[in-house]
Amino acid sequence: MSIAERAVGAPVERIEGREKVTGEAVYAFEHAPEGVAYAAIVASTVARGMVTGVDAGAALSLPGVLGVLSAENAPSLPGAEGELAVLQSPAVAYRGEIVAAVVAETLETARQAAELVRVDYDAAPHDVLLRAGHPGLYTPDKVNPNYPTDTEDGDVDAALAAAEVCVDETYTTPTEHNNPMEPHATVAEWEGDGLTLYDSNQGAWNVVRAIAKVFAIDEERVRVISPHVGGGFGSKGTPRPHVVVAALCARLVGRPVKLAVTRQQMFTLTGYRTPTIQRLRLAADRDGRLQAIVHDVIEQTSTVQEFAEQTALPTRMMYASPARRTTHRLAALDVPTPSWMRAPGECPGMYALESAMDELAVASGLDPIELRIRNEPDTDPETGNAFSTRNLVECLRRGAERFGWEGRHEPGGRRDGRWLVGTGVASSTYPARRVGSTAHGTAEPGGTFTIRITAADIGTGARTALTQIAADALDVPLDRVRVVIGDSESGQAMIAGGSMGTSSWGAAVVKACERLRAGEAEVHVDTGQDADPGEGFAKHSFGAQFVEVRVDPGTGEVRIPRALGMFACGRIVNPATARSQFLGGMTMGISMALFEETVVDGAQGGYVNRDLAQYHVPTNADIGDLEVGWIDEEDFRVSPMGAKGIGEIGIVGTAAAVANAVYDATGVRHRDLPITPARILGG
Ligand code: MOS
Repeated sequence: MSIAERAVGAPVERIEGREKVTGEAVYAFEHAPEGVAYAAIVASTVARGMVTGVDAGAALSLPGVLGVLSAENAPSLPGAEGELAVLQSPAVAYRGEIVAAVVAETLETARQAAELVRVDYDAAPHDVLLRAGHPGLYTPDKVNPNYPTDTEDGDVDAALAAAEVCVDETYTTPTEHNNPMEPHATVAEWEGDGLTLYDSNQGAWNVVRAIAKVFAIDEERVRVISPHVGGGFGSKGTPRPHVVVAALCARLVGRPVKLAVTRQQMFTLTGYRTPTIQRLRLAADRDGRLQAIVHDVIEQTSTVQEFAEQTALPTRMMYASPARRTTHRLAALDVPTPSWMRAPGECPGMYALESAMDELAVASGLDPIELRIRNEPDTDPETGNAFSTRNLVECLRRGAERFGWEGRHEPGGRRDGRWLVGTGVASSTYPARRVGSTAHGTAEPGGTFTIRITAADIGTGARTALTQIAADALDVPLDRVRVVIGDSESGQAMIAGGSMGTSSWGAAVVKACERLRAGEAEVHVDTGQDADPGEGFAKHSFGAQFVEVRVDPGTGEVRIPRALGMFACGRIVNPATARSQFLGGMTMGISMALFEETVVDGAQGGYVNRDLAQYHVPTNADIGDLEVGWIDEEDFRVSPMGAKGIGEIGIVGTAAAVANAVYDATGVRHRDLPITPARILGG
């Protein structure tokens, strides 16, 4: 097949697109095994304390109610830890924690009965507000997933003292919730000690591993089926407590049980992004060359289990500076456990770093693009390793040209009628990684092929991309290949997370296809022990975000008529679905800059805004003209396709570009997100 006919690189339409738009695609909650019953969750109304009694009488007397589960009658789950140890003790660790569940013949009855379960508490004082100087701040042993908590290179204090130009500012980001379109849902069905879950997740194998451990059964006895998933943004990367509840309820009533988390319950049960308080100190010489970077992060975890977000991680590799220090401190509060949310670490961390870089550009009298180019490192500042590919400067330059970047001018000086107009830029980065996965392949009579891999398509186009990768590796047209995903029977595989789905699954698919192409009829491959051609290299994607804002100083309204993201993410497998990933990330970044904030209720210990009416995610009217571009790049040290990853980098840097543009428009620096009309008017 000629290069021109290759599938990788072509804007192939989503294979399941028609099924989705016609409603034929079956999502988790739509699976309907015979005899299915419905569960509903009863959530705690105190933020800390003990359940002293559960009175299920009124609920059980409602016709159609099949059972009520609480810590009083739930079986012991010795393998369950942290958030998955549901109903294992009367202790309450946060408001909204699961304290009981009701099973009924219909969803309506289950919900009504859940309201009738009477739970008594012995409430204790709670502490839910993260603040600098919190007395409980401690140093975790590591930050996610396994990085040093603190790093220090060079003589930071001497460099700070000697600096000719200095920035020392604190930036904050609030609690944010993932809010995928499809709520988390599970249908659980036992057959003896075998469990089948129709579940909405980012990786069926992750669910198998976690749930098998909770119930102390063999992984072979758990099957997770997830052909279609309506988004996750990280919140479905690990199974949430409702999966355990569904399985417990199914066992309680001896029937299959469906459980969907309600939109309101998603604010307490399915993870969120920790709020952060980040102090950035940048010291530079007169030419804008960094002499010291210090990034001190304060964030939260829960008392249930530790989650230590790696917020300062990008600061370790982003810019050249002889002296660098990064730290992370946590407070364990009476809150749900924070979890993964699109570009965990890089997203909030780069908001602070890239805002501070803009402030340094202003303080140095340099164009912000020129400042970044002057601080471009030759090798990874943290490890000294060569970058496998690093095209940040190319992204900044090409982006500037395409966007029409005009360089630095006096902020607050441009007007168009009632609008103050400004532009902002920020760098973007995200690690480019790959982990081992298994895949299964068969060659069928007639020249067709079936590849099975426990991949997840959460709306990204993964199914389509993997089919393209397989077709090229087999050297056959697309219609000769069927890729079956979303079924744990295909074996261990990476989740759709960490922007490593395509690189990890793709490597396994290529390996399987190469063996089929060599003449084998049926193959099972595992890339877990394969040599890593990227060993010893720093592997990251890069990008540059450009934003134009218009600010109405009378109302405080901020509009974004246009934005451009220019990315360097290795080979782009499918330009159509990749573009959507970048657009989605940028949209979420704009949303982070202007809208998203989960308001913590210090008095009651819960969240004030718990639905999409009050937690604002952008609509079409909020988003202007978004443009996406990328650099021709291939990186075979990351994957055999030359692809890196694209799921998360789109959100990284976007919020800083917005904040920097607001400064350019108004002359007022906003360091606390989101930049609401009230904050604009306050400035
Ligand atoms: Mo992404 S937050 O790694 O699922």
